[in-house]
Order: sequence, then structure tokens, then C-alpha cells
Amino acid sequence: MCGIAGYVGSREAVSIVLDQLKRLEYRGYDSAGVAWRSGNGIAILKKEGRLDRLFQEVTQTKPTAHIAIAHSRWATHGKPSDENAHPHTDATNRIAVIHNGIIENYIELYQEMLQEGEVPLKSETDTEIAAHLIGREYQKTGDFVEAVRSAVRKLRGAFAMVILCEDEPDKIVAVRNASPLVLGIGESENFLASDIPALLPYTRDVIVMDEGDLAVITSDRIHLEDAAGRPKLPKITHVDWDIEAAEKGGYEHFMLKEIHEQPDAIRACLAGRLMKDGTVKLGDTLDEKVWTGFDRILIVACGTAYHAGLLGEFLFEGILRVPVEVYYASEFRYNNPILRPTDLVLFISQSGETADTLAALRLVKEEGIPTLGIVNVVGSSIARECDSVLYTQAGPEICVASTKAYSAQVASLALVALYASHLRGGDREKTARLQTALAAMPEFLAEVLRRREEIEAVAHDIHQAPLMFFLGRGADAAVALEGALKMKEIAYIPTQESPAGEMKHGPLALVENGVVAIFGITNPVTRDKSLSNVKEVAARGGTTVGIILDSDPLSAEVLDRSIRIPHIDSPTIAAAVSALPLQLLAYHVARLRGCDIDKPRNLAKSVTVE
Ligand code: M6R
Repeated sequence: MCGIAGYVGSREAVSIVLDQLKRLEYRGYDSAGVAWRSGNGIAILKKEGRLDRLFQEVTQTKPTAHIAIAHSRWATHGKPSDENAHPHTDATNRIAVIHNGIIENYIELYQEMLQEGEVPLKSETDTEIAAHLIGREYQKTGDFVEAVRSAVRKLRGAFAMVILCEDEPDKIVAVRNASPLVLGIGESENFLASDIPALLPYTRDVIVMDEGDLAVITSDRIHLEDAAGRPKLPKITHVDWDIEAAEKGGYEHFMLKEIHEQPDAIRACLAGRLMKDGTVKLGDTLDEKVWTGFDRILIVACGTAYHAGLLGEFLFEGILRVPVEVYYASEFRYNNPILRPTDLVLFISQSGETADTLAALRLVKEEGIPTLGIVNVVGSSIARECDSVLYTQAGPEICVASTKAYSAQVASLALVALYASHLRGGDREKTARLQTALAAMPEFLAEVLRRREEIEAVAHDIHQAPLMFFLGRGADAAVALEGALKMKEIAYIPTQESPAGEMKHGPLALVENGVVAIFGITNPVTRDKSLSNVKEVAARGGTTVGIILDSDPLSAEVLDRSIRIPHIDSPTIAAAVSALPLQLLAYHVARLRGCDIDKPRNLAKSVTVE
């Protein structure tokens, strides 16, 4: 997500924190800013766009300071702009805040503060609300650290926050709550950053803050306390990684890092949207009459996003019983699509810049049909041009092969389905099951990650296959397409993907010794039919691998190799979770075959040509 940097010591602080930000540039951002303690109080510069723009401004200002914090923003609340860039200040401009993550209850907090008096907002961000809250607490007690403590107790969400106070010019306060924050220890100087690469040129002795920790950092001391305010002894780790390894968080590739980020990506996607009572909030969204009035949904996307859309079809048709059509964006415009005013058209895109998807969106808009974007990159073209957008909140995805964006796209589609179901009175039982499964999706993904070694072992067994089949029924067939795309995209293995029942109508002719068939078998209703297809492949000498539920020992007996995922009561969420083992299989097979995993040949991350 966004980048955080901080420094306190005797050196020139602003140039150090900007250098730290530069080292986090690989993560992607859309604006950046810096705050430092000048002779006159807290000075702030912030700019939309590349870091160079901020650097130019800073160079003209020639700051001299011994304490500074800086931030590169990847927009979540509010478009990329100078105003929305961090740091944000309270009403008195004495408190400056930078923040990664999402504050879920910022609207409630804003409304509560309004009851006590005006809240002069300068941006559209949740972060600014936190700055005002800390400022208000500070006005009550005059105690900076206590003000942060009591404000943080009121915040809900996943965040890492770093704060300066004009009246305490030697102190940075930092809080970690689900978003990473690392402190760096120097000699008569200390550092902080959201990621280790930003610290490595300065120190290799770091303290990784734990969940709920609060740190008070001065040049010669780091005070650490837990969420209950109890002082803690900091655990210092010496980091030996080189810079490249550090950028990947210690993982060998961005793809592996992003696969592991999926539980957090889904948590961020659901935060503030899927409420504890099961209701769904989508924030600023389409008119209620669109939500209650549509009688068909079209989903338009490319590649992995298209595959997420296929799961959307199961979600919407299952719960709402409205027909859904899923289109490849590259085909949409040229196939003379029938569009009606009572359609709702969803556009799914990680980058928000895919040319085919954008062209299809423009065509639909010309017809005046309501459009909803499901997009990861805030402020991207598709996000801006759709009538309304639901951001997937997966964080920047760097590897060309999409992984965490896919899971977040499916989770977003599930949110949309639930939202529409509540408004339109969808199938109650299926709605309840989906709600429960979606809320638990981060934990299901985390459980699959705990079993990663079993998946790696299967990759060892199959990595030399000349051809792989990816098969399933229902939602598993939709995920089979995604599993196959991952395998061919990064491991360059030819694949054949289809509903399992289609095998006997032709593709079965390709099965012989050495060929591997990977089945998704995550729906008990179609399990037995799928096992018949497994036997068809085995009888012809193919090796069979299945992604199966923990609750299904029978499939494990029939398959040559099986990879288990937790039992999940919603077939669509179960299928979506089964994509994670397929991603890991593709990753390990590609690694064993010596492929360039993060930058596969012939492909680009953002496809801006039609
Ligand atoms: O940025 P988008 O989601 O619109 O991109 C669509 C496809 O180009 C993308 O999903 C592509 O298929 C991925 N590289 C697959 O891993």
C-alpha cells in the first residue's frame, strides 16, 4: 500500500525521509508529501504525481529540520490530488498525521465530532478525520502521547499511523494496527518506515512493531508499549537481506508476496462494508432505483478480471435470480451487444486502464446504461468513467500475474450481490450463507497458506508435465480457467481448461501418460460427477490432482494427489478460495522450471492497447 518514512536525529531530516520514500517507490503511489518541524511550527509540502514533483518543491524550500515524516499515497478514500495527499493536519495545524490502511468508522467519528463543533475539512480522506480526532484529544489534555492513545482507541480498521506534534519537536508517535510499521535504530538517531527497504541504507537493526503497539521515538530512545498501554521490551532484529529481497518483504518474488497478502487484501476489501450484523455498506454508490430496478447484469472484463466475473455470475444468479452475461471486453464492442435501459453493467479491472475494458465502458455509457466499476487502482480511467466505483482495496499489485486482485474482485462482487440482495429481497438462505463465508474468507485463505508446503510438494511431482488440464464443474469450472491462465502465463505449460463434463466430448483424446489433470472439487453437490471425470482421466494414464474440501475424504482416495482447503458452505467462495492453491502451484512449477516469474515473457501488467 502506501509508503511511510520517518526520522529524528541530528542529520537533515527531510532529505532522509524523501530518500526513504524513493526506496519505496517500487510499490506504486499516486501522490506524496512530507512534514517537518521548522522554526515556525510544522511545515508541510505535498504533491500529486511522481515523487520528483515533491522533490522539486522541497529543493526550492531548502528545509533544515531534525525531525520529519513523509508519505507516498496510494489512494483509498478520495482521488489522487494535492489536497488528499498526506500529511493531514488537525484544525489548529499543530498535529500532522500520515497513515496507511483504512479507518472504517471515519464517517461516524466525523459525525460525532461535528456535534461538538465544526470540523474544517481540507480533503476527502479518512486520515484527516484521524488528525482532527487526535487534535481534539490533544486540546483536552495537552498531552501528545495520551491524545494519540485515546484517539486510537476510537478508531476501527486496519492502519499504521505516524504523528508529529508542533509542541513536542523531538518526538514522533507511531501506532500499528494491522498495517506494517518498522522502526530502525541508529546512533543518536532513529528511523521508521512501512517497509524494511526504506531503512536498509541507514540501519540494519530494526524493531518490527506488533499488532496494537504504540511507539514514541526520539533521537536517543524508543519507547514501545502494547495496545493496553503496558511498556514492552523492544525485540531488535538484525536484517541481512539485500535491497531487492527487502522490497519483496523477504519473499523470493512479488508474486509469492502478493499471494501471501491475500488474507489482508480481503480484510481491507471488506472493512467498513460487510458489517457485523450482515448488512453491506457500499458508500457512495448508484441510485437505489438502479439497484432495485435492474433485470439483467452484464459483466465486462479481461483475463483474470474476466474470470472473477464468471464467479460473479454464480453469485448474482444464485442469490438474485437475475440473468447475468459475462463478456470478454475485447469481444464486447464488436459483437453488437444488446443493451437495455434496465441492465446494470459491471466493469472489472485491477489497473483500471485496460484499453478493451475502457472502450467497452465508453460504448455502454453512450447508451446511458448504469455502470459500476470494480477497480483496484484509485483514480484510474475506468474508475473515473464509471457512474460509480467500488474499489477492491487489494493494494498495489506488482507481479504481472494477478493474484490478490482476483480474490479481492470476487470478494467485491460478493459484496455487490449481498448489497443488491438486501435491497431487493434475494434468496435469504443463500444470502446468509454467502455473508458468513465472505466474512470468514480471510481466515480460509490464511489456512490454505499455512498448508503451502503440501502444495509445493505437489508442484514438485507435476512440474515436468507436457500438458495440464484444469477442470471443474460449476464455480470450480470458472476457477479452472484462472488456474490454467496462471500456469500458462508464468510456467509456460500448455493447458486445456474446460468444465470437467466436457472432457468426453473431445479433449479426453489428449490424455496419455505424463499429462496432468487438476480438478477443482469444492462443491459437494457435484462431487460424485467430478470423481467420474477423475476416473476417466486416470483410466487413460493421466495423473490426477484435486483441490478438495477438508470434509471430503472420499475424493482424496480417488485422486493421485490432493490439496485440501477448509470446508466452506458457499460454493462460490469455496471455489474462489481454491484459486489460491492453483496460484501457488503455478508459482512453484514456474520456479522449478526456472521461469521469470514476476515478468513473464511477452506480457505487460497493464494492457493499454486494444
Ligand atoms: O488490469 P486489468 O484487471 O483490467 O487486467 C486484465 C488482464 O490483463 C489481467 O487480468 C491479466 O490477465 C493478468 N496478467 C492475469 O494474471
